[in-house]
Amino acid sequence: MASSQHPTSWTPASWRALDAAQQPEWPDAGALSDVEGRLSSLPPLVFAGEARSLTTALGQVAEGKAFLLQAGDCAESFNESSADQIRDKLKVILQMAITLTYASGVPVVKVGRIAGQFAKPRSNPTEMVDGQELPVFRGHMVNDESASILARTPDPTRLLTAYNQSVATLNLLRAFTKGGFADLSHVHAWNQEFVATSGEGQRYESVAAEIDRALRFMAACGIDLAAEGSLHHVDFFTSHEALILNYEEALTRKDSLTGDYYDCSAHTVWIGDRTRQLDHAHVEFLSGIENPIGIKVGPTAVPADIVALCDRLDPDRVPGRLTLIARFGAGKVRKHLPALIEAVRASGHPVVWACDPMHANTFSAEGGQKTRRFDDILSEVKEFFAIHRELGTWPGGLHIELTGDNVTECIGGVGEINEANLSDNYTTTCDPRLNARQSLDLAFRVAEFLRS
Ligand code: PEP
Ligand code: CO
Repeated sequence: MASSQHPTSWTPASWRALDAAQQPEWPDAGALSDVEGRLSSLPPLVFAGEARSLTTALGQVAEGKAFLLQAGDCAESFNESSADQIRDKLKVILQMAITLTYASGVPVVKVGRIAGQFAKPRSNPTEMVDGQELPVFRGHMVNDESASILARTPDPTRLLTAYNQSVATLNLLRAFTKGGFADLSHVHAWNQEFVATSGEGQRYESVAAEIDRALRFMAACGIDLAAEGSLHHVDFFTSHEALILNYEEALTRKDSLTGDYYDCSAHTVWIGDRTRQLDHAHVEFLSGIENPIGIKVGPTAVPADIVALCDRLDPDRVPGRLTLIARFGAGKVRKHLPALIEAVRASGHPVVWACDPMHANTFSAEGGQKTRRFDDILSEVKEFFAIHRELGTWPGGLHIELTGDNVTECIGGVGEINEANLSDNYTTTCDPRLNARQSLDLAFRVAEFLRS
């Protein structure tokens, strides 16, 4: 980290001397540089002190005293940013968090993939659409998914639009989480109508009723509930993949209190499975910011390389600094995870281990849509928990893609979505997301793993 031990050669721009994977080919360097200048002069989205609070909270997760729920869109969209959509996403995350907390007695650290999750790493730089080769869609921060050369050409003004939409989203999230909406007395209001009528919605209602009873009991005992701030607002943090380094650099600021650098585009950012090369630009950039950071760890991860990454990104061994987000695929966790956990444990890095049961369980349905099976998602989480239990380590978190909308993007679980009805309401900008019912169902199941 940028503290005393860090090589002094680091600057917010030092990544530029290295190879950066997954960067768009911006057609006009001058236009890009104008946008970078503009972004650098705009206010930060988050404050250094908030990022430090998140590191502290994640430190509790690393110690086995709390659980991380990181959830939201695969890719946020410039076309879907209404207040209702943001509110509904928050509702389902709050529902999941309260379900997990109530059932397990473990506090939940809530982090959204939101207010900045606009850029996607892709397997190929181009794709064929109707016989025409087009640059691949890289997320609304870069280009548009419509099938034309013009739409697919990277446009740096999109970085500004992404910033502005993030500001608006975060403003609403702050209002919702601090201004009464997240008050525990509103626990019933987070249950959306299409969820409330379902089995898992009813199950949630009974948890909510028990919470009401507990609050009435405390009040009857003379506890001043109005004075208890944690009952009335929640800490909700933002995150996204730090992919487009020009954007991240432009939002990196020196904290006036500590003199350290923070990437003020979000409370925490992660690097993907495709951009975690030790000697490349993304790792260089992350090594100098003080935010808590995540690293996606997939089947190609070699234990010694992951330990080297931890040494590079967490030289001071700060609890909560690093979250390793495991994504191996159902049936494949046992092959990869134990050796990684052992190696990281032996290295002494107090990391959070989180499970992303989405990204290695994607496949194409007959109709061509990308989808995931709820059962695969559940079984990857189950394997993740079982392995941590066997090794005596803490299964610290869940990292998932969801939406509050009633979409039909993932197959199975409650609601009987199958391949034939995937197209009923398939609206994702990138990967298939769990809908609100599937997400709540997953939370009840994970709560059972946590409790046992
Ligand atoms: C993602 O989280 O959306 C993603 C692309 O993940 P990964 O880097 O694990 O493939
Ligand atoms: Co995704």
